[in-house]
Amino acid sequence: MQEQLKELNQVAVNAIASTDNLDELDKLRVKYLGKKGELSQILRGMGKLAAQERPAVGSQANVVKEEVQQNLEQRKQALQQAKIAAQIEAETLDVTMPGVNRPLGRVHPLNGVVDRVLDIFVGLGYTVATGPQIETDYYNFEALNTPKDHPARDMQDTFYLPGGNLLRTHTSSVQIRYMENNEPPIRIIAPGRVYRRDTVDATHSAVFNQVEILAIDQGLKFTDLKGTIKEFLQRMFGDELPVQFRTSYFPFTEPSAEVDVQWKGKWLEVMGCGMVDPNVLKAVGYDPEIYTGFAAGFGVERFAMVLHQIDDIRRLYNSDLRFLNQF
Ligand code: DAH
Repeated sequence: MQEQLKELNQVAVNAIASTDNLDELDKLRVKYLGKKGELSQILRGMGKLAAQERPAVGSQANVVKEEVQQNLEQRKQALQQAKIAAQIEAETLDVTMPGVNRPLGRVHPLNGVVDRVLDIFVGLGYTVATGPQIETDYYNFEALNTPKDHPARDMQDTFYLPGGNLLRTHTSSVQIRYMENNEPPIRIIAPGRVYRRDTVDATHSAVFNQVEILAIDQGLKFTDLKGTIKEFLQRMFGDELPVQFRTSYFPFTEPSAEVDVQWKGKWLEVMGCGMVDPNVLKAVGYDPEIYTGFAAGFGVERFAMVLHQIDDIRRLYNSDLRFLNQF
């Protein structure tokens, strides 16, 4: 019987040591130490022993029981700890792992210029207006005091579409559309895409963007035009910016001027402007004896190129991220 107990001890300790599963470990506890377990079964044979042998066997049985219990307990703790460690390992967020890269988008330099321009004019009380890119000859030229045989049309050759339509050559057409549908006082700012039959080079594009400015009211004078444009350009390019007006000609303004800013030591032409020609006011049914106004227009690309020192207009269109990431 002592041999049996010794063997039970050995087998149980080995079995406990080689299990790595908590459920199995509990089955081993039942198997060896449970009420119907192997230890109980061996002890059931105690009755057959001689009386003097019983104490020794009894105390050996207790030692075996304690040792197996201790082994069970230790193994249980080890397995529980391993289980927790494995869980932590599996659930841990590895902050050193490379993340999913989602690059931030940004505003295109052309839209950046338009946004700033609109901000400035909205701040001056202007309303944003837009018009179609496919225009009629009337809105693009005729109503802007530029009849069919007018030499100013030469500079604005465009793409003609079936049915007498054309791609607008400037945003000035929005002036007419807006005035036809609204009564003075008018203060609008009209950004948009325009088209010319131009050969593409570093400073020309057949498709580009303009912003148009129009103010109509009673008693508007050339000084209002000058003050507005100067304020705008200084907010755009800087407070101390020198601005000069040069006489010029546009069919839809009288008198007309071109505006230069001093930039990096040189005078740079940045926009055209003038007092709205009475013929334009008549075309939309306004009485030029009552209303006067001023208008101005400029190219968005030109502004972006001056502001950001961009050497070639085509960089603004070819979506090269090495270029665009700089803004
Ligand atoms: N529409 C002219 C152009 O495309 C720019 C311009 C000049 C607009 C004078 C105006 C203006 O409103 O008054 O060249």
